Amino acid sequence: MTETNPFEGKVVLVVGGSRGIGAAVVRKFAGLGAHVAIGYRTRSHEAEALVADLAAARGRTKAFMADVSQPEAIDLMVRDAVAEFGRIDILVNSAGINPYRPLGTIDAAFVREVLDVNVLGTILLTQAVVPYMPSPGGRIIYFASRLALSPLATTAVYAASKAAVATLAHAFSKELGPKGITVNAVAPGVIETDMTSAILRERGEAIRASTPLGRIGTPDDIAGIVTFLASSDAGWITGRTILADGGVT
Ligand SMILES: NC(=O)c1ccc[n+]([C@@H]2O[C@H](COP(=O)([O-])OP(=O)(O)OC[C@H]3O[C@@H](n4cnc5c(N)ncnc54)[C@H](OP(=O)(O)O)[C@@H]3O)[C@@H](O)[C@H]2O)c1
Repeated sequence: MTETNPFEGKVVLVVGGSRGIGAAVVRKFAGLGAHVAIGYRTRSHEAEALVADLAAARGRTKAFMADVSQPEAIDLMVRDAVAEFGRIDILVNSAGINPYRPLGTIDAAFVREVLDVNVLGTILLTQAVVPYMPSPGGRIIYFASRLALSPLATTAVYAASKAAVATLAHAFSKELGPKGITVNAVAPGVIETDMTSAILRERGEAIRASTPLGRIGTPDDIAGIVTFLASSDAGWITGRTILADGGVT
């Protein structure tokens, strides 16, 4: 490990790493010397393009497909990543979906779909990865959302799923603390990705105007928070959710 490559030799699994915030997290870790396993659900071309783009990085990168709502798929992805890289020092779960519906149109299938990906996926991934993490020294970082703290109309199911993620970080920090593994979450406000392209088309100017820092957040605004939480400097922070929304809340 060096000052310029603080993650040299470390292995990071970034699930949901093929696009958006997760892809910025992958690039940041790769630039800091880590080996990165990239998890994605279906869009293999984007995951493979990212791997190709990082071919010259100091650490190795490789893409692995798994739907995080499927327990067997998660186990297989984690086993394949460990077979490739030997262990997992850091788990970042950026996989998530954000469909919004008004109360009157919410049905059981909709609720299950959101909770399966955002909540069950977070639990199953954590279960699958912990046996391969260094103890002490493992790091787990989830994505909650600003909406967990201040939901908006039609966001109820997504916001509740992200409140659950923040609570999972808090609760798992109690269980994994004795192993020396930290568990934290980042709660972004609106960040410019595929997930928010429709919202930004409709209300981008209003969102920018109501943001004290005067612009829309970018994936790079979030990636550095993740690498900080994964660093040795953050070893005394666990169970927390870091709000990063340009001052909106
Ligand atoms: N963007 C925001 O404004 C914002 C704000 C607050 C919180 N967040 C949270 O931050 C995280 C990243 O958001 P983003 O904006 O970067 O999202 P995004 O651009 O839509 O990318 C989502 C990523 O998650 C993967 N994914 C989705 N469902 C999956 C599943 N069932 N199994 C495995 N992978 C799956 C996608 O893989 P494929 O490419 O294969 O589809 C993709 O890599 C999410 O948890 C989101 O809820 C985002």
